[in-house]
Amino acid sequence: MSLEKSTDKILIIDFGSQFTQLIARRIRELGVFSEIISHKKIKNKDNNNYVKGIILSGGPLNVYEINKYSFDKKIIEKGIPVLGICFGHQILSKVNGGKVKQSKHREFGLANINKRKNSLLTKKFFNNKKKTKVWMSHADQVSKLPKNFNVVASTNNSRFAIIENKKKKLYGVQFHPEVTHTDNGKVLIKNFLFSICKIKKNWSPKDQKMKLIKNIRDQVGVKKVICALSGGVDSSVVAQLLNKAIGKKLYCIFVNTGMLRKNEEKQVVETFKRKLKINLIYVNAEKEFIKRLTNISDPEKKRKIIGNLFIKIFERYAKKIKDVKFLAQGTLYPDIIESKSVTGSKTSKIKSHHNVGGLPEKMKLKLVEPLKFLFKDEVRKLGLELNLSKEIISRHPFPGPGLAIRMPGFITKEKINILKEADYYFIQALKDHGLYDKIWQAYAALLPVKTVGVMGDNRTYEYLCLLRAITSEDGMTADFYEFKKSFIQKVSNKIVNSIRGINRVVYDITSKPPSTIELE
Ligand code: XMP
Repeated sequence: MSLEKSTDKILIIDFGSQFTQLIARRIRELGVFSEIISHKKIKNKDNNNYVKGIILSGGPLNVYEINKYSFDKKIIEKGIPVLGICFGHQILSKVNGGKVKQSKHREFGLANINKRKNSLLTKKFFNNKKKTKVWMSHADQVSKLPKNFNVVASTNNSRFAIIENKKKKLYGVQFHPEVTHTDNGKVLIKNFLFSICKIKKNWSPKDQKMKLIKNIRDQVGVKKVICALSGGVDSSVVAQLLNKAIGKKLYCIFVNTGMLRKNEEKQVVETFKRKLKINLIYVNAEKEFIKRLTNISDPEKKRKIIGNLFIKIFERYAKKIKDVKFLAQGTLYPDIIESKSVTGSKTSKIKSHHNVGGLPEKMKLKLVEPLKFLFKDEVRKLGLELNLSKEIISRHPFPGPGLAIRMPGFITKEKINILKEADYYFIQALKDHGLYDKIWQAYAALLPVKTVGVMGDNRTYEYLCLLRAITSEDGMTADFYEFKKSFIQKVSNKIVNSIRGINRVVYDITSKPPSTIELE
């Protein structure tokens, strides 16, 4: 995010931790504006009057590998409150005269933490009756307390698990308060913000919307942008943000691959073209996709063919529009969470898995990814702020390759039609029974086997339909949803009785891992 020059904020100095964006997220949840700057880029002047507190993130470095990180300690010597987390705690200790060394007992996972003294940082942090658990992930630890610091809490392996210099408002925690595994971690961050930094609430989804719109305008100026619109929540939010930011300079391209859910193309055109008045180019490439996929059963080949065809279609339309300089995508933070450091990297690489495969490099378009620092639930809140319908906002994720990867084996028009119907019945039943919003993602798949059944007095020999419904936080791990017998039986009956081509239904009860959410 670009530097916000006139808003009170918390400055997060990123040392490359996988959790840095989670710190920012917790601060946003508490209604406060924050900004992340890589330790490689931070300058003394960034710590201006608007900075009300500094958080030093964790990271994979070792405080003694001095050449691998640059950090001007003057930044934290201006009297502004500082909270060091994990590696940040170790740096804070070291620059204040403490010592850090390799720990005899590396700590990864949960540890019980015990209070040693009261602190503003830990008001309402410790559980009264049960043990308070914190999430640790470190190999080094503070071995000598810095000068004028006190111990606030310890774990068995970390004597200096929470330390403070109350007068100078310097605080260090060896564990990660930003992850949900830490009990009351958010309370600790809240105390830092409001009791120690004394910052006022200044951040809401509306502020976020305004800032993202401004950032888009700053980035693209008067240039044209194309947006790959799938109709899912992420690309819909991106499209609406761009629509608000640049209006007619935005061209959304919606490709009907023939492997969308039933009636999906009609709904997308209706919403975006008619209701939201967005420049929408609807491309019906059904025949092209199905022709290319004929006789292909290998899942990776299917994905490649679909990805490449998307590129061709986009190129075709980008040429027609002329002077397109940017491509907008709905990349979210979890999509790039494994990349090194979002703020430190020059460009964010797209995972072929989540996007249309190599598109920007080939087309030499610059990327506009306004959601790349956000998590799915934040995107949903933003969608509400942008007046997108609840139907779009609460939609289950749907993969780019669509039904093609929910149909292991060969793809035929007949199979697509059968699958579209089965999926429709299943999803409709979830909605009718108030279950849709309780489930993170659900779908029907068609397996490439036929089995024998009996209907009336006749033998049937038809396809096997698999139903999958999972709960998840971010799609990285998942568990199956436990339906009542009566519900799943009703869906099974409806599918078998209504759809010619399916005579058996199974329910997938594997979690992720070891399975994935999709079949291919
Ligand atoms: P897996 O199957 O990897 O899926 O457990 C995790 C989440 O990602 C979605 N998914 C995709 N989304 N393009 C997408 O836009 C893809 O190629 C793709 N493959 C999987 C999947 O639906 C689930 O939500």
